[in-house]
Amino acid sequence: MISNKITNGLIGNPIIPGDKSISHRSIIIPSISNGITEINNILKSEDVYHTLNAFKNMGVEIEENKDKVIIFGKGLTSLNKPQTEIYLGNSGTSARLLTGLLASQKFVSKLTGDKSLSSRPMRRITEPLLKMNASIETSNGNLPIIIKGNKLNNTIIDITIPSAQIKSGLLLAALNTHGLSKIVEHNISRDHTEIMLEAFDADIGIEKIDNKKIISINGKKELKSVNIDVPSDLSSSSFFIVAALVNKNSHLKMSNINVNPTRNGILLALKKMGAKINFLNKRQINKEEICDIEVFYSNLNGCELGPEIAKLMIDEYPILSVAACFANSPSIFRGLSELRVKESDRLKLITTNLERCGVNCKVEEDDLYIYPSDQYEINNNSIQTDYDHRIAMAFSVMGSKIGELNILDSDSINTSFPSFIEEFNKIGGKLS
Ligand code: S3P
Repeated sequence: MISNKITNGLIGNPIIPGDKSISHRSIIIPSISNGITEINNILKSEDVYHTLNAFKNMGVEIEENKDKVIIFGKGLTSLNKPQTEIYLGNSGTSARLLTGLLASQKFVSKLTGDKSLSSRPMRRITEPLLKMNASIETSNGNLPIIIKGNKLNNTIIDITIPSAQIKSGLLLAALNTHGLSKIVEHNISRDHTEIMLEAFDADIGIEKIDNKKIISINGKKELKSVNIDVPSDLSSSSFFIVAALVNKNSHLKMSNINVNPTRNGILLALKKMGAKINFLNKRQINKEEICDIEVFYSNLNGCELGPEIAKLMIDEYPILSVAACFANSPSIFRGLSELRVKESDRLKLITTNLERCGVNCKVEEDDLYIYPSDQYEINNNSIQTDYDHRIAMAFSVMGSKIGELNILDSDSINTSFPSFIEEFNKIGGKLS
């Protein structure tokens, strides 16, 4: 894909698709509940289809029509042995959550993925599951993995890596385990799984002590279906928010955006940089916080962000880095080690590609430094994405500001935002 410089501002109301994290959970949790769930505004992207097809493969009846997906739940223990291996493409969320869920089922299953997913660490989820008596074989810590379903033991598990995927995989394992399991989280991570499990009447308790969150699940209680309205994805909206902030005369409005406080770091960071963003019509849907977001072109300041905010916005550093290139002072973003194990080594690709765009930046240990300038001279206009959707979309925004960039392997955008090009061009962008 080629991203070209825009001359006028970006104006309009882009439609942001359903939240990816909530969409995965909107398939997984209804599939193991009792009853029928209707889901509105689910994200129809490759990652989510991998989760959906996995459950079809395990005998769950799923109806799709234009507006809705309808899931006929099979209960906690009635999934069928999958007909084939379960291929999860690029989706880390599917891999970690399904590993937890399948560990307690009655059959053997095999999870596989694409090249990027097959190089991402899986021991972070399999090791705590082994402590619960799971029987799982990884390929040197990676996919493919073979899960031999087992009766799990309830226990107390500490999670020290900040990761909602690990937490959610363990919660799904605990749901089908007799007795009280406790999952102790030492870092904040997105809490969509807990919110949805509460709505589905799971026997779940949450306690916060100092900086720890202790989630207790009394297993083997059947879940009750509830209909779900999936809000729009803040992570996807952030490409539009930054595009408007850095391009003169821009004014965008996006509706129904999820601003769950466990993942709103990008908004806090941009506000700290002086962004003109308004939050309108604040409300709750299915216990998730939602609002409409209005954003205007702004003169941004650089900022220093500590590791504590990284947990609230880990997916947004590629696009935040683009924003930092157009601020009036340097930025330092600290504590980004988790960026190295995402869909690509994002820390490396952010600096490689910013340097190609002529930006002065560096990584020291796990901290990223960006020194902005008034004028950038592109050294090499090929943007290496390693098939990472967020790198592709972030550098599309960079191109809208500095001039022609050739975003390689940009099909990856379909993993989370198939309508990105159409929506970006609708408001005045120049992607082809
Ligand atoms: C996700 C959690 C995050 C995030 C990913 C989606 C989820 O990963 O990066 O895009 O849906 O639970 P980690 O939990 O591994 O940080």
